[in-house]
Amino acid sequence: TASFREESMATASEIAAVGVIGAGQMGSGIAQLAAAAGCAVLLLDADSAALTRAVASISASLRRLAAKGQLSQVRRVDLPSYYPTQIGPGHSVKDAAEAFPSDKFWVRLVFQAACEDSIKRIRCVSTVQDLREADLVIEAIVENEHVKKKLFVELDKITKPSAILASNTSSISITRLASATKRPSQVIGMHFFNPPPIMRLIEIIRGADTSDEVFAAVKSFSERLGKTVICSQDYPGFIVNRILMPLINEAFWALYTGVATKEDIDTGMKLGTNHPMGPLQLADFIGLDVCLSVLRVLHNGLGDNKYSPCPLLVQYVDAGRLGKKRGVGVYSYG
Ligand code: CAA
Ligand code: NAD
Repeated sequence: TASFREESMATASEIAAVGVIGAGQMGSGIAQLAAAAGCAVLLLDADSAALTRAVASISASLRRLAAKGQLSQVRRVDLPSYYPTQIGPGHSVKDAAEAFPSDKFWVRLVFQAACEDSIKRIRCVSTVQDLREADLVIEAIVENEHVKKKLFVELDKITKPSAILASNTSSISITRLASATKRPSQVIGMHFFNPPPIMRLIEIIRGADTSDEVFAAVKSFSERLGKTVICSQDYPGFIVNRILMPLINEAFWALYTGVATKEDIDTGMKLGTNHPMGPLQLADFIGLDVCLSVLRVLHNGLGDNKYSPCPLLVQYVDAGRLGKKRGVGVYSYG
């Protein structure tokens, strides 16, 4: 029953095994974060080439963070015996940084060990059945309600009764995804931002039936990943995308109606409002398919024409110009 499930559900510190489904831009970053925080990670994708790309990008990202001493501060690492005794087995990466504040050589070695340790925690798998042991599953597949619901039906059948099922959806109703399962109290939105290892926010969305226990466990797990949490009610696009996507859409309208060149639109917003990327560059970075899907959810769900996607965005997606991940979007990438 639902109450049995809640009683036996893992708390944040007990979340030891995390399943991540979808090894694209977001899933790979989410798997990396969970591994760096000390969890065993099972990473699944329908496309085996995506898994190969994910492992390469996770290794590269961890190496970049390790070189700067920015791996998660909380995880522990067992060090080989030739390390100085002050940072013997079981010490945390933070201990090492504190023990050798001025010795970059040792600190770098310790971060390197933590990085290798994190990679070893990630196991690529090929079927949903492989996620049986997960305490928490985070889904980051295509932004399509029908496809996500089908996955939640399968997950509900194969995961242990206590498992929490989270979606990284950018806009889709958590209540509706939860309704595909027999455990709606254990379904929640856990919305990461791109690139997950760098962006400091997780937006948590409670569905109509998400329990207080599940919300508390996911909130403290997010904090364990080093993120700041905000909480949104279950409205289309939640908080951030409800505000961001109309901005991106307006930039497409400006381009479509000939207000300015793409470069001037982006430079205007970068230098005029101090955004790290212009809106068209950001749309390419997110994926134009994701932007279009989110705008359609906003338009259908909120019923206001101001969310209607610009025809130019629709045309780019129809043409397969999905942004940086495909090498071409508003811009071309070499
Ligand atoms: N892993 C590890 N390190 C990374 C990294 C990754 N995946 N990506 C970037 N970095 C590091 C780089 O190594 C670099 O470090 P140093 O400064 O120490 O050299 C630093 O981050 C900056 O990177 P770059 O120099 O390559 O480029 P940049 O200065 O333009 O920063 C960026 C890149 C962090 C992505 C920045 O451009 C940015 O913040 N852009 C906006 C991103 C944003 O708005 N994301 C949210 C999108 S909306 C969303 O995600 C929700 C949705 O549902 C659609
Ligand atoms: P992506 O296209 O980079 O990756 C999606 C991956 O999911 C692909 O590798 C694909 O092979 C795999 N996949 C699709 N259907 C599958 C299935 N049924 N089973 C297993 N694997 C499947 O997409 P992304 O940008 O990583 O986005 C993934 C999710 O995260 C979407 O819901 C999106 O809205 C959300 N999101 C995206 C961003 C962003 O900036 N791109 C930010 C936050 C949230």
